Amino acid sequence: MKILITGSESMLARDLMPVLKENNEIIPLSKQEMDITQKDAVIKNIKRSAPDIVINCAAYTKVDTAEEERGKAFQVNGIGVQNIAIACAEMQIPLCHISTDYVFDGKKSKPYTPFDAPNPLNVYGESKLAGEKYIQWITNKFYIVRTSGLYGRGNNNFVITILRLAKEQSAVKVVTDQICSPTYTLNLSAGIKKLIESGSFGIYHIADDSGSGISWFDYAREIVSMAGIRAEIIPVTSEEFPRPAKRPAYSVLDTEITRLSVNYTPEKREVALKKFLSTAKRF
Ligand SMILES: NC(=O)c1ccc[n+]([C@@H]2O[C@H](COP(=O)([O-])OP(=O)(O)OC[C@H]3O[C@@H](n4cnc5c(N)ncnc54)[C@H](OP(=O)(O)O)[C@@H]3O)[C@@H](O)[C@H]2O)c1
Repeated sequence: MKILITGSESMLARDLMPVLKENNEIIPLSKQEMDITQKDAVIKNIKRSAPDIVINCAAYTKVDTAEEERGKAFQVNGIGVQNIAIACAEMQIPLCHISTDYVFDGKKSKPYTPFDAPNPLNVYGESKLAGEKYIQWITNKFYIVRTSGLYGRGNNNFVITILRLAKEQSAVKVVTDQICSPTYTLNLSAGIKKLIESGSFGIYHIADDSGSGISWFDYAREIVSMAGIRAEIIPVTSEEFPRPAKRPAYSVLDTEITRLSVNYTPEKREVALKKFLSTAKRF
């Protein structure tokens, strides 16, 4: 397949492209090469490249800043996605789009399935939900892939941040009351590959296997312990550690439908983390 990837400099795309490259032709487009908020440029670029599918990795991902930059978040995660969906619909090609666990309000205590109703608590989640809706209004050839707590190549993720803080400080405060399912971008990439080869359009959840979930606090402890770093991880509540954007208390993703539909079985979180730590050279 000829696969066009938007946001090709994102953390996810950096792992996704090598995974797809094995038996596909990749057309990577960075923000500089194609700003997804520019409708004419998006349509022109996608038509000129004539891909078999587009995978959208471009996004506004600054969860806290989004509270003050509502317009910018919606421009990229809503209108930008609308532009790509229009181009894909005109060309009658599928769109694979990446979304988030933050579309949910966290009121459940069991993992969220693709059939649960979204109800985002923050602007980032609202803007990502807008993108999901535009896709469903505009085209019927789509894979919407919701994922959670991504880590992979790059500096801007929880695992790298905890490792850095644990080395810089003797004690690191981490919240106990947000339960999630952290996911290695390399594993998400393998799941995306299976999905786009399936032709089974729909909304899917892909996350590493954390059972019924893990708190960021327990996960931070797991990270430093596995990395062999001596640092105290101090439990705090979200109230004691306020952030501009409210986060769902529980946003574990249920991946059962992905397994049933495309035979993607998620890797255990601990196995994925070990793999990541052994390949990451920076620490
Ligand atoms: N990271 C997570 O924990 C997480 C969790 C759940 C879901 N997701 C979703 O997974 C996807 C990938 O996330 P990620 O963490 O890999 O993202 P990322 O590293 O933050 O990368 C996003 C990319 O999109 C680019 N971008 C921003 N505005 C753009 C525009 N108008 N046109 C084209 N490109 C634009 C950014 O460029 P600049 O940096 O130059 O602005 C950046 O290269 C996103 O859809 C995200 O919402 C992420």
